[in-house]
Amino acid sequence: MLSTSDLTRDEAISLLDLSDQMALVNERELKKLPTLRGKTVVNLFYEDSTRTKTSFELAAKRLSADLINFSAKGSSVSKGESLKDTAMTLAAGGVDAFVIRHHASGAAQTLANSGWIDVPVVNAGDGTHEHPTQALLDAMTLRQRLYGSSNTSSRDLDGVTVVIVGDILHSRVARSNVHLLKTLGARVTLVAPPTLMPNASLLGVETSYDLDAALSKNPDAVMMLRVQSERMSGSFFASEIEYSKNWGLTQARFARLNHKTLVMHPGPMNRGLEICSEAADSEQSTIKQQVANGISVRMAVLYSLISRERSIDV
Ligand code: CP
Repeated sequence: MLSTSDLTRDEAISLLDLSDQMALVNERELKKLPTLRGKTVVNLFYEDSTRTKTSFELAAKRLSADLINFSAKGSSVSKGESLKDTAMTLAAGGVDAFVIRHHASGAAQTLANSGWIDVPVVNAGDGTHEHPTQALLDAMTLRQRLYGSSNTSSRDLDGVTVVIVGDILHSRVARSNVHLLKTLGARVTLVAPPTLMPNASLLGVETSYDLDAALSKNPDAVMMLRVQSERMSGSFFASEIEYSKNWGLTQARFARLNHKTLVMHPGPMNRGLEICSEAADSEQSTIKQQVANGISVRMAVLYSLISRERSIDV
């Protein structure tokens, strides 16, 4: 699971359907399945994370797998140990899947295709490249909110309109979402300041610099992206005030937003910069649901990669 561009429509829908089944497990008092008993998952995190790391941890534990939580901080990476040697060291203990987050775009691909290890690799975010499980949890959330949680099975997102706003240039979330949403039939518009808009013709979707114009078309969802200051070496906009005024979901803009338009954000949020608290904490917001769905999606992904042959009983 390196990129959403690798998924066919049927594969994506079947992963989303399986995620819905996992969500039923997560609603039970005993949130546990025995399906990955005896299997070992490594969480290999070279970059900070709250949501992705904890949800992969919960996902592995709820499937009864053993889990190694590895953070580069505090490890022998500080002594110069390479990704290759780190992965091979951890794999020596007997590992069934690696989940990797890395600051370098392509790190997950390298780990999967290098021959250093011979088990499945899940990309939990590589640089500015991709974050496939984030896109899957976003699609799961859209299906639930647009169709009702009992009516999502086998549904795609045909004709659903999604506006993705902000720091597209540095966003692995945007890239994975564009691929997956297109595969599922949704229509995507990217909105960003000119300096933070990549060559979107390569992504094959509409682009705009005008957020108000995009929102006036009453999209089904608007996905606000974090301004990723840590990836910016120069100045990409004049000031935070100017960014918020033109490309933020401010109080004034939220007040004008169609009350049926869903408000999404992958987190972590810069409240007051790309999104105001009134929008983030509103009934239209899906943000908490996205986080909860992250556990179910990651259970589905781990289950699919490690244990196709074992049945689940929800
Ligand atoms: N959305 C997301 O990837 O959040 P974390 O960086 O906290 O994992």
